[in-house]
Amino acid sequence: MTRLAVMLSGRGSNFLAIHDAVRSGRIPAAEIVAVISNKPDAPGLSRGRELGYDCCDVDHRQFASREEHEAELLRLFGERKVDFVLLAGYMRLLSPRFVNHFRHRILNIHPSLLPAFPGVDAQAQAIAHGVKVAGCTVHLVDESLDGGPILVQRSVNVLDEDDSDSLAARILEEEHEAYVEAVRKVCGGFRVEGRRVFFD
Ligand code: GRF
Repeated sequence: MTRLAVMLSGRGSNFLAIHDAVRSGRIPAAEIVAVISNKPDAPGLSRGRELGYDCCDVDHRQFASREEHEAELLRLFGERKVDFVLLAGYMRLLSPRFVNHFRHRILNIHPSLLPAFPGVDAQAQAIAHGVKVAGCTVHLVDESLDGGPILVQRSVNVLDEDDSDSLAARILEEEHEAYVEAVRKVCGGFRVEGRRVFFD
């Protein structure tokens, strides 16, 4: 069994998509062993509790430094023997030390076709730039912002009537599919050569 930890800060719809896929067997031989939020009031964390997951509220404001906050995360992951960390709307940067500890074992989802539009408000950046195709990317996390090796991408056409909210809603539907596909694929094994990822 591959042991997954989900980290979130908000709504948690990507977490729920992964939960559904694990439960239905679309992601086989895997289990979610922890749901962690740095925001105690994150709706995704309450949903995780309702679903009976091992949920931990690790509020970064309760720690003196990023290092101490991450030390607690590493302790929790170690205790639960976590194989992969899935960032699902986790709104805090991870330090190089943390990333290095979980090298090629942290996944993130970003609502743009990277390397276009990293950072915040990716969907609004896409609208402002006038792109005709937008989308989402699931990638491995490295020390850069939204810059690690790409696992899965899905595209969405931008319509004339779109604003950033309507575009974000359509991208979100694709995010749920893309994240499930990426988790299923990494659980099946992969290798990284430079920036390229090859699945077994
Ligand atoms: C998603 O748009 C994801 O791409 C971004 O944060 C949002 C999280 O949404 N990183 P949810 O909490 O999974 O619903």
